[in-house]
Parts: sequence; C-alpha cells; structure tokens
Amino acid sequence: MNVQFAPTRPTGAYALALPVRGDDLLTDRLASLPDASRTLAARAAESQRFERELGAVAETFLPEPDGVRRLLLVGLGASRDEPALWERVGGALTAKLLTSGETRLVVDLTGLDVAAADAARLAFAAAARSWRYDVYRTKQPKKQKPTLEEIVVVGAGEGAAGAWAERQALLDGLAFTRELVTEPANIVYPETFVERCRKRLEPLGVEFEVLDEKEMAELGFGALLGVGQGSVRPPRLLAMRWNGGGARDGGGAKPVVLIGKGITFDTGGISIKPAAGMESMKWDMGGAGAVAGTMVALASRKAKADVVGICALAENMPDGNAQRPGDVVTSLSGQTIEVINTDAEGRLVLADALTWAQRTYRPEVIVDLATLTGAMIISLGHEYAGLFSNDDGLAGQLAAAGTETGDRLWRMPLGDAFDKLIESPIADMKNVGPREGGSITAAVFLQRFIESGVKWAHLDIAGVAWSEKAGSLYDKGATGFGVALLDRFVGNFET
Ligand code: BES
Ligand code: MN
Ligand code: ZN
Repeated sequence: MNVQFAPTRPTGAYALALPVRGDDLLTDRLASLPDASRTLAARAAESQRFERELGAVAETFLPEPDGVRRLLLVGLGASRDEPALWERVGGALTAKLLTSGETRLVVDLTGLDVAAADAARLAFAAAARSWRYDVYRTKQPKKQKPTLEEIVVVGAGEGAAGAWAERQALLDGLAFTRELVTEPANIVYPETFVERCRKRLEPLGVEFEVLDEKEMAELGFGALLGVGQGSVRPPRLLAMRWNGGGARDGGGAKPVVLIGKGITFDTGGISIKPAAGMESMKWDMGGAGAVAGTMVALASRKAKADVVGICALAENMPDGNAQRPGDVVTSLSGQTIEVINTDAEGRLVLADALTWAQRTYRPEVIVDLATLTGAMIISLGHEYAGLFSNDDGLAGQLAAAGTETGDRLWRMPLGDAFDKLIESPIADMKNVGPREGGSITAAVFLQRFIESGVKWAHLDIAGVAWSEKAGSLYDKGATGFGVALLDRFVGNFET
C-alpha cells in the first residue's frame, strides 16, 4: 500500500473518509461538501443506524460533476484516549475498501487536531490490514482481488511523514512474519526458513550463523535433534545478529537475545495429534517467524541496539526413526530429559537453543516466543499471550510494550510447586507434567535451562499467532503477533 501525507485533498478520483467523533456536529464535519451532498450524507448515515461507534462506517455515494464519489463516515467513538483508536479507524477503512473497486482512499483529518504519530498509526493500520498472501491462487475471480493501492492522509500534524518512516519498517517486519507463518510446511521447512531469512535480512546488514544437524550433533544438541530425527527435513539452528548499538564480539555491551520456537510442522510425532485441524500446525513456527520479522523491523529502521534473533527449527514427524515416548535424551546443557510425550516438542528445541544462546552470547536478557501449549488458549483465549518471567522489571517492560502496541500480554506464575511436577523417575526431568497448569509446567521446564543471573521471559503465543477472524490490523490468518511488541521492547535498550 502506497501511503502519502498531504496538506489538502488531491484532485481526481478517490473515496473520501471523514472520521466523526461522538460529540462532533455532523454538519461541521461535512462542511466542505455542497449543501445537497451534506443533507444526503447525513440522512444516509442515519438510515444506516450510524452512531459513530469506534470503527463503524457509514457509506454514501455523492454526485460529482464527472461521476459519483464514495463517502465513508467513520466513527471515533466517545472516548478520546482509547489506546488503539487510530488503528481501529485505519483498519476499518481498509476492511471496507480493500476489494471494493476503489484504488485510492483519502482520509481527511482537517479540523480534528490529530497528532502526527496518530495519523501515522492510522496509515499503518490501513496498510497492515491490507496484507494478504495470494501467491497460490491461480483462479481468483476478479471481484475478489484487492483494488485499494493508495491512502492519502490529509490534514495531519507536522511530522507525520517522519513518524511514518518508522512505521514502514515495522510493517515490513510484520509482512515477513506473516509470510513465513502462512507458508505451508512443504514450502517452509528448516532449510528453506533459513534461506528466506538470509535473502530478506542479509541485504539489510544482518549477520548469519547457521548450525546444521552434524554441527549440532558434535556440540550435543540432544533435545533439539531428538525432535527432528523423525523427519526427512533436517533441523537447523539459525542465529541472526544485528549490531546497531556498536557492540563487537568480546567487547562491551551484551546483546538482547530473542529466541523463537520454529517447528515448521507439528504432527505430534509418535504421540500423534488427531487429524481434525492438524493443518493448523504449519504455524507452529510462529515464535521463530516473529523473531525473524522483528529482525527485519529492527534492521530496516537501523535500531541503535545489539540484538540476536535465534530460531530453533525442526519438523516433528512420526517415522521409523522418530523418537519414542519414554526415550531419554541428553540436552546441550547436560541435563537429561525423559520424553514422555513427543508432542511436547517445543520445549525440547527451545531448551537447547536457550543453552547455546547463553554460552555463545552471555546475554543479560533473553525473551523466547513459542506457540507452546494448547493450555494457554484455554487460559487466556485469543486476547492475550501468556507472559512468564523470573524478573519483575523485565516482565513490566514487556507488559508495557504490549499495552502500547496492542500485542497484549498477561503475566502467569512460575514456582517450585510447578517445578516439582516435572520430576522424572529415570532422568533429571520429564517433558510434560499433568494436564492441569500445562502452560506453567512448560514454562518451568524452560526455566531449568536458564543460568543464574540471566533475566528471562517466555511468551506463550499459541492463542494469538493465528486468528480465525479478522482484527483491526490483520485479516483472518497469520496475525504477526510479537513483531510490534519486540520492536517496541528493544527501544528500551537503544543507545
Ligand atoms: N504446538 C503445540 C501447541 C499448540 C496447540 C499451539 C494448539 C497452537 C495451537 C505443542 O507442541 C503441543 O502439542 N503441546 C501439547 C503439550 C502436551 C503434550 C503436554 C498440548 O498443548 O497439547
Ligand atoms: Mn506438539
Ligand atoms: Zn508444537
């Protein structure tokens, strides 16, 4: 989507959107229209029961000398400090117009006193909501194809174009995450995930390090390799490094480490999942996808921070060579794990990635993201991701970034009582606890791989990486959850 900011409305054909507050006089907002059009628009709004609810849209077609113009009145609701107000407006307009036949949208904010940052938010949401992935449709009817190409925001405060530049970087990151998450597992598997990241991120100045299965075997990645051993697609460990804060190997500041669960398909392995809905497990790499998209956003806006993004990539398949329930594996940390359930694979690949990251980068802060447990969806539904952390300061920073960006987090507990539940009669721990508190036992499992003094947070994004219904920033499908959150969170470490 092409985004422009302008002081006045352009000439030519376009759909015009006028936001209306709950307490605006409609005649004031329509003042720029000729008398007849004003009356028509006001009556049309009333007959559509338009009550200016946030994101509600009333549509009218106005006579113009050379045709008709589509006018959209969009509600701003009653509250002025609703956090996602301008996102809701931008998203609602795109949802209405994306396949409407209109190619250009003009949103006129004149007289509303909208700050530059808010105007940029509106444009960001409009663009984010337009993202779709139609590469596999060869027979899409013309009527279903998107038509909207451009949005012009008129009458925004000084500096909107500058605020937009940072938003554009975030949009690029969001799009990359959604692409990776949407791709099916026969296209995006560990090796091709790495290659896509390389193609996208190396030109932006991001450094790559990739471990293949032979290198991981030599180092002792027993937990990660156990998950991948039933698949013909070999696993990978991908590390992407952005040195925007000026740190160099061996010197000064420690990088912030982000780690993503990258199970490119999760059948459950020998503990196989039921057939119904199994196709959704192509997005079991949503954590890794969010990490990769965050690296795109950070590098595109040249963030002044040192960040390493790590993706633990494997495919979890049943096979003659697959690991069995009851197998004991030795993780990179040296701790042994009894694999009670091969479907609890995310924590196994993350365990080795956490150890490798701590040994390699000696970070002070690690955040991992994972579509880790179905139990998380039972706890928080699709509104919040679960936040687990051993550090209140870190948890607070992440929760604040979540509120600001709309990638909302809800803190969950850790603790010894849960840790006891993963004791094993044969090994140092088992990979599952009882059904109750399933997201928490998964988190305390990960915590066993965190070295003392390291601030760590785990985000269980199982309920939010994919959506069955459209939101203001996304259509149904991959949401890109985590990219805006981490991009904002890294802001805390910028020099
Ligand atoms: N990838 C799943 C979790 C998941 C489920 C993510 C639904 C998104 C939607 C994970 O690997 C898994 O299978 N977890 C098991 C753990 C259990 C065996 C302890 C689960 O949640 O059932
Ligand atoms: Mn699983
Ligand atoms: Zn999984």
